[in-house]
Amino acid sequence: MSFFSDEKKGNLLSTFSADLKEFELAIKATTNAIFKDPLYVVGYFATLFIISFKLTFFIVLFLPVAGIIISKISNGLKKRSKQGQENLGDILSLTEETLFGLRIIKSFNAQSFMNTKFEGKSNSLYSLMLGINRRVYLASPISEFLGVLATSGVLLYGGNLVLNDLIQPDVFIGYLILFSQLISPFKSISKAIYDSSQGIAALERIEKITLQNQLIKNNPINPEPVIFSNEISFNNVSFKYNQEQVLDNISFKIKKGETVAIVGHSGAGKSTIADLLIRFYDVVSGEINIDNLNVKEINLSQLRNLMGVVTQDSILFNDSVVNNIAFGVEIDNSRVLESAKMANADEFIQNLDKKYETFIGDTGNKLSGGEKQRLSIARAIYKNPEILVLDEATSSLDTKSEKAVQEALNRLMKNRTSLVIAHRLSTIQNADKIIVLDSGKIVEMGNHKELVSKNSFYKKFIDMQSFE
Ligand SMILES: Nc1ncnc2c1ncn2[C@@H]1O[C@H](COP(=O)(O)OP(=O)(O)O)[C@@H](O)[C@H]1O
Ligand SMILES: [Mg+2]
Repeated sequence: MSFFSDEKKGNLLSTFSADLKEFELAIKATTNAIFKDPLYVVGYFATLFIISFKLTFFIVLFLPVAGIIISKISNGLKKRSKQGQENLGDILSLTEETLFGLRIIKSFNAQSFMNTKFEGKSNSLYSLMLGINRRVYLASPISEFLGVLATSGVLLYGGNLVLNDLIQPDVFIGYLILFSQLISPFKSISKAIYDSSQGIAALERIEKITLQNQLIKNNPINPEPVIFSNEISFNNVSFKYNQEQVLDNISFKIKKGETVAIVGHSGAGKSTIADLLIRFYDVVSGEINIDNLNVKEINLSQLRNLMGVVTQDSILFNDSVVNNIAFGVEIDNSRVLESAKMANADEFIQNLDKKYETFIGDTGNKLSGGEKQRLSIARAIYKNPEILVLDEATSSLDTKSEKAVQEALNRLMKNRTSLVIAHRLSTIQNADKIIVLDSGKIVEMGNHKELVSKNSFYKKFIDMQSFE
């Protein structure tokens, strides 16, 4: 899996599809404009100067004015195109968040809040797009108009020169023919300036995402497998994606064999904590250690070998069931069967057309959310990782499959070190330690009993859950 898997999906979708297209267009348009058209323009101008210095001088004065007007338009467009794309990404992310987070939204009675959020976003996108479209349509008539203006200027001024016998009439007609040839390459250059400004905006967005990938430096010095024997520790960890502080001075420990749960409202920074441990991102300050070894010092694939991750939207590949369970590792059929049984997945797999050889793609959407989730869990069981990271692994399930999945998860967590992000009381209350996160800060930490008797954040939080 790539590091991109946790980037806001909507943003990625919108950025990549639209941007690559735009960039390609810009490249096509600009290569012509860079290599062919300037030669034409220079050649024509030289001839025009030879024919009539005065008349051409007049045009040369006029052209920069036209150029400035066009670049003004395209600059405004660049800024707006960037904004529009970001906005569109926001909307797609919000749609996804809304769909996946429906349960939470309902339990917090936040439907109208989400609606307003949605309306606001789509309204601002609408007006932005309107502005962009207006400019796109305006850019072409304006350059058309400038062409006409230039021609009439030349006619007026040149006609005057002819009347004053400063240029021969037949030479003037020849001049006009040459001049009309100039308009087309000039127009394509100005269009290229506009196209490339869009291309640059697109390139900047692509760069932003690929940069994020390059930021994670693998440590090649130490390919040795890490042995996890003591504890995971977050020491004064702070993190931001952009300007906003997402995690603020987080410190906690997970002892080997312990289950630590993180609870908190949506957007509190829970998934970010998991992402930092898996090293999808690097901390801005502070450090994350596994047995006193900074995760940055550990070879990336060794680090990820230590961990099994189950997230709320199970990621399956278009391959056979058995390959999805023994994903990327050697297939041991009896262990695959055992893992599937432990994940409560064997029963539905036996009912598939070709059982364990059934292609996931062939089942289409016949697999329910719970079934997909149990396949993901079977994969995690098969991997048999030292450290388990569960990010809302049961939140998108109906109550029936939830019970089966929960049982599977409990088996998976047994005798294992787990970081569990959950909003189900059943998952949380048995944890050795519960961390309550609010706006990137740890506001409470302790076990279920301790935190309930404190009668503060955690108590309020679980009281809300019982409305579900
Ligand atoms: N890839 C990202 N780029 C920018 N901001 C992000 C990204 N992922 C999450 N965020 C923001 O960081 C904050 C914490 O997000 P997250 O850790 O996903 O919260 P939680 O899992 O608790 O719901 C939120 O405000 C969210 O919008
Ligand atoms: Mg999350």
